[in-house]
Amino acid sequence: MHLNRSSELLERAKHVVAGGVNSNVRLLALPQPIFFSEGHGSRIRDVDGNEYIDYVLGQGPLIHGHGNPRLLAAARESMERGMMFAGQHEGEIELAEAICRLVPAAERVRIGSSGSEMVQAAFRLARAATGRQKIVKFEGHYHGWFDNVLVSVAPPLSAAGPREAPHAVATSKGQNPQSLDELIVLPWNDTELLEKTLRARASEIAAVITEPIMNNVGCILPREGYLERMRELCTELGIVLIFDEVITGFRVAPGGAQHLLGVTPDLCTFGKAMAGGFPVAALAGKAELMELFTQGVNHSGTYNANLLVVGASLACLQLLNEDDGAAYRQLFAHGERLREGIREIAASCETPVQVQGVGPVFHLAFHDTPLREYRDSVGMDVPRYHRLVRRLMERGVRCIERGLWYVSTAHTDADIDQTLDVLAVELPEAARTSAG
Ligand SMILES: Cc1ncc(COP(=O)(O)O)c(C=O)c1O
Repeated sequence: MHLNRSSELLERAKHVVAGGVNSNVRLLALPQPIFFSEGHGSRIRDVDGNEYIDYVLGQGPLIHGHGNPRLLAAARESMERGMMFAGQHEGEIELAEAICRLVPAAERVRIGSSGSEMVQAAFRLARAATGRQKIVKFEGHYHGWFDNVLVSVAPPLSAAGPREAPHAVATSKGQNPQSLDELIVLPWNDTELLEKTLRARASEIAAVITEPIMNNVGCILPREGYLERMRELCTELGIVLIFDEVITGFRVAPGGAQHLLGVTPDLCTFGKAMAGGFPVAALAGKAELMELFTQGVNHSGTYNANLLVVGASLACLQLLNEDDGAAYRQLFAHGERLREGIREIAASCETPVQVQGVGPVFHLAFHDTPLREYRDSVGMDVPRYHRLVRRLMERGVRCIERGLWYVSTAHTDADIDQTLDVLAVELPEAARTSAG
């Protein structure tokens, strides 16, 4: 494998694109930022002709793989009718109706273009509804790149303060320090601490925002009863409960993690898998909150609900939900086969390996024990995992540097077999203690 052409393009790009990439996370790509030429189904090809089975899937959106023909046809057909009207079209209603049918919390919907902005709209509703200002967020959770929430996403423990009262730690230079004061940061999956904090500070707290399954560090399910208690407390104390389902939405169940886990938030955000790779996002929730958008709360956007993304999203959801759930059965079966296969290989590895996840999304790490919250993750052997990622790339398997794996409906049994064959060699090799 060589990356000569990619390296040339990266050098050229650096003269005109900051860092040569258009999203900071791509700066961290291993073995280097790569230029790709095409993707089809489960496969992606780079400009040097290397082909990979793709488990990055655009960082999640490509739930039907690259270039699903029905998705493309729907997008094309929509665009041929028009691109944007700065007015309404019937597709918007159909999409909102589909979301309201699928998602337990959804009584009203607003469409936008990115998860980050939908989170902001949710905060605005929560503040308007409660007249309070603070937002509770959890260590290790990511809710977009805006100043007031890009906080304590992966804080060094030296800066993170005591576990029982974490400091709010900015992630980026240039963040407005005052915006950190809007947040109360807590460790996730700790019911007692949550209850204590919410009861003590309820009069200040507009909302609790959480990924219902923690996917931005590890892929961690909530402890039994944790989200249920969070729901009860928010109801009792008049706090708006926001589930950020940008990763879990339409992926772990037709109605997202709230559907899978049986806990219904007041508001929820969606993106990624919602349109199979087209740039769309949604905020959904209780009518009484969402209707505040007609009572003085602003949510706007030039590109909101344009014909292209609405057509694509309708097709994406249709593909996921036709044939009596066949797509989810396949996504879950393939995810489970990969996890089981990895666990079997891991059983004889020299270094402990953790595989945690649900359905078509899971996390792989070199770590002694399963992850339960962000602070567990600092014990992960990241350099060792990065060595594995490099070796997998060389063997034609592409996965995310931070350990998350996504599976699409385009992945075949043969892809899973091939991936497990590669892992059967490379995982024990990376896990060799002498390789540490
Ligand atoms: C849970 C979660 N929320 C919000 C976002 C931000 O979404 P976007 O990148 O579409 O702005 C992400 C992105 O990865 C996410 O994982």
